[in-house]
Amino acid sequence: MGSIIRLKPELIEKIAAGEVVERPASVVKECIENSIDAKATRIIIELKRGGKEEILVRDNGTGMSREDALLAVERHTTSKIAGLRDLFAIKHLGFRGEALASIAAVSKLTIVTNDNPNSNEATRVMVSNEGKHWETAAAPRGTTVVVRQLFYNTPARRKFLGSDVAELKHVLNIVTRYALAYPNVGFFVKHNGSEILSAPPTPDLKAKVSHIYGKDIAKNMLRVERSGTIKVEGLVGVPGIARKSREYQSFFVNRRYIKSQLLTEALESAYKTLLFLERKPVAVLNLTIDPSKVDVNIHPTKLEIKFDDEDAVFSEVHLAVKEALESNVLIQKQPSKQGVLAKVLSQTKPQSTKPQQLEVSTQAMLVKDEPRLKGIRILGQIAKSYIVAEDTQGLMLVDQHAASERINLERLQNSKMTLGKQTLLQPILVTPPKHQAAIIKHNLEALKELGFDIAEFGQNEFIVREVPVVFKQNVTKELLNELFDEIAQNIKKTPRGLVNEEIVHTMACKAAIKANQELSLKEMEDLLNELLGCKLAYSCAHGRPTIIRFTVKDLERLFKRR
Ligand SMILES: Nc1ncnc2c1ncn2[C@@H]1O[C@H](COP(=O)(O)OP(=O)(O)OP(=O)(O)O)[C@@H](O)[C@H]1O
Ligand SMILES: [Mg+2]
Repeated sequence: MGSIIRLKPELIEKIAAGEVVERPASVVKECIENSIDAKATRIIIELKRGGKEEILVRDNGTGMSREDALLAVERHTTSKIAGLRDLFAIKHLGFRGEALASIAAVSKLTIVTNDNPNSNEATRVMVSNEGKHWETAAAPRGTTVVVRQLFYNTPARRKFLGSDVAELKHVLNIVTRYALAYPNVGFFVKHNGSEILSAPPTPDLKAKVSHIYGKDIAKNMLRVERSGTIKVEGLVGVPGIARKSREYQSFFVNRRYIKSQLLTEALESAYKTLLFLERKPVAVLNLTIDPSKVDVNIHPTKLEIKFDDEDAVFSEVHLAVKEALESNVLIQKQPSKQGVLAKVLSQTKPQSTKPQQLEVSTQAMLVKDEPRLKGIRILGQIAKSYIVAEDTQGLMLVDQHAASERINLERLQNSKMTLGKQTLLQPILVTPPKHQAAIIKHNLEALKELGFDIAEFGQNEFIVREVPVVFKQNVTKELLNELFDEIAQNIKKTPRGLVNEEIVHTMACKAAIKANQELSLKEMEDLLNELLGCKLAYSCAHGRPTIIRFTVKDLERLFKRR
């Protein structure tokens, strides 16, 4: 006898429900999406015990007729798509026609809805294991969904739920995302009777960010706007407010909240030289893409998406963010405060569960067109690594390696091809390991463009005759070996489209003056002059500071004269 049996409908329902409903936050997500699809402008969410006991989502949207409300809780019923063609150009957040049915399969569901703006007569539909019932009720136009005892009939699932606070955090995570995606919609969350999030409708995104992340973050956000085949718009944070984690990054595609490694990389690569190590930029970005060029239907939760042209999406987002950063010459006014700033930021986590109360204190400021500093007097070098200088404002400490790296980076970026070359006294033969040789071979053109005279020389060997002028130190076989080794290593981790940029970064670093190297007065002067002519003089290629300043006022404060 065969061992395959046909599953019972109740079991099929629960398996399917499990794909959509993982925790209270999934219920909230589905309900919010339904409310937005129903053109609501006000969405109220009330939770008991992190949503494990009860979740209520009330909207002022179009509501449903009695007939529709009874159908809505059935599986595969939707008002949002009608045929196959619609599936390939989705215009609503929902389309699968299964969210409410999935929720109903694993909870006790009640829906109260009214589609008539001129009457209070509503329909209440109740669904549980025993079946579906309805009665008349009183409510204004709109819909209220109440979900009680989630997973009461699937104890294994219930067991995996987190604490009330943990579940609440998941809910807030999703609500804040949708509040950012739809600034004109008000979102209000209550937990066990007390209000914990109030994000009223706002005229623009910045005002909404202010409600959700606080004023300090909002005022340090830069506008992003780039229109091509893909439109990228939103806000990104200045480097000074970057966070330890990515929880303040939100990506929307056609105003649907999604998670995407591709978009994260595109965003972060635009910041490359601006961030402190391991810091993650704050960003709220929406991409408007022809719906037929994306596939939302790859996972039941619709949190992932497939783009037809990933490369185009990557470069549009990368460029959009880069333009925003570049058009605001990002110079940190008082880098001497960066240590303090970093500390403050690392301690600033959302307190309790109220993200709208988040306070971030930051001295990072945007200063446009700071004039190139004049009248610099070099006082000397400390530990063969730092230049000490004085200018009209006070004392400057310059990290010679970081400074040299920044200068190299900008020279390499700005003048590819035209950058001068220096001929080596003797050509150098480098013999990298086989796997590295393959990578170098693949990128020979990029290296030549940057000013190398490099050619293959037998199997897995290369002969180098000229190097770009950026090299400030004795070019030896060891140095070239190190350079190629690092280029090969770094390229492996580099997202598509950015390989050349990565090579430039590695070279900027390797060719730079090192720490622990004595410099003559002339060398120090040249370095400082060149540094102050850089676009982003205050941070090195890795986002570390190049210059730390102590103004006379700072000194007075330190000596307790003030
Ligand atoms: N808050 C609401 N206001 C008005 N109509 C609603 C609301 N929630 C659900 N509906 C109606 O019920 C239908 C079924 O909702 P459900 O969420 O199950 O499926 P869907 O949104 O069509 O697709 P998906 O499963 O992808 O969410 C919707 O198509 C919509 O017509
Ligand atoms: Mg839906």
